[in-house]
Amino acid sequence: MNKSFRLGILGSGRGSNFGAIAAALAKGSLSAEAAVVVSDISGAGILQLARELGIRHEFVEPGPFRTKLSEVAEAQFIQILQDARVDLVVLAGFMRVLKGPFLRAFEGRIVNIHPSLLPSFPGLEAWKQALDHGVKVTGCTVHFVDAGVDSGAIVGQRAVEVLEQDTAETLHQRIHAAEHELYPACLAKLATRGFSVKGRRVVWST
Ligand code: GRF
Repeated sequence: MNKSFRLGILGSGRGSNFGAIAAALAKGSLSAEAAVVVSDISGAGILQLARELGIRHEFVEPGPFRTKLSEVAEAQFIQILQDARVDLVVLAGFMRVLKGPFLRAFEGRIVNIHPSLLPSFPGLEAWKQALDHGVKVTGCTVHFVDAGVDSGAIVGQRAVEVLEQDTAETLHQRIHAAEHELYPACLAKLATRGFSVKGRRVVWST
């Protein structure tokens, strides 16, 4: 068991992906440790869930901007994650863009999950973008985070078929369910296998 692989989880919402990750940690299919959960929303479900599971959790006041953290807040996030000695920062529904200092502090060690098959449909409401575009297959992607929007190297993907009768809600639900399988599986691979990023490709060592 690679219990020494320490995850720092960031989220702004209900935290169902964190729930799936915590379940995989509990049953041992992901051998790592949830070192800390940090949120920019004091009442976020993800913090409540961490509390229930007895996992260290912190709220950081995000500052005055809607889509990014203030410099002070970003520094606090970095400090908390460094104090918790995290090996990997796991974005699980974190709704603010992370800027240069954060990206430099954890370079090549931040992953995110996005509800489409990237590079199609980056940005907000990707399931709705997919439905409106008329694609027949969409899905979800775990990727490294870089300075762009949903643009980093791809760790793993899961396809979800778009059904004729789908609404944005039904499609979103099935993508969410696929995320709950994909994210723990990708984290397990990152925790146990060596990897490097060559160009746009994640290359596994073992
Ligand atoms: C997920 O749909 C993920 O794709 C996106 O944010 C959502 C988080 O959902 N990045 P939850 O808080 O894990 O339920």
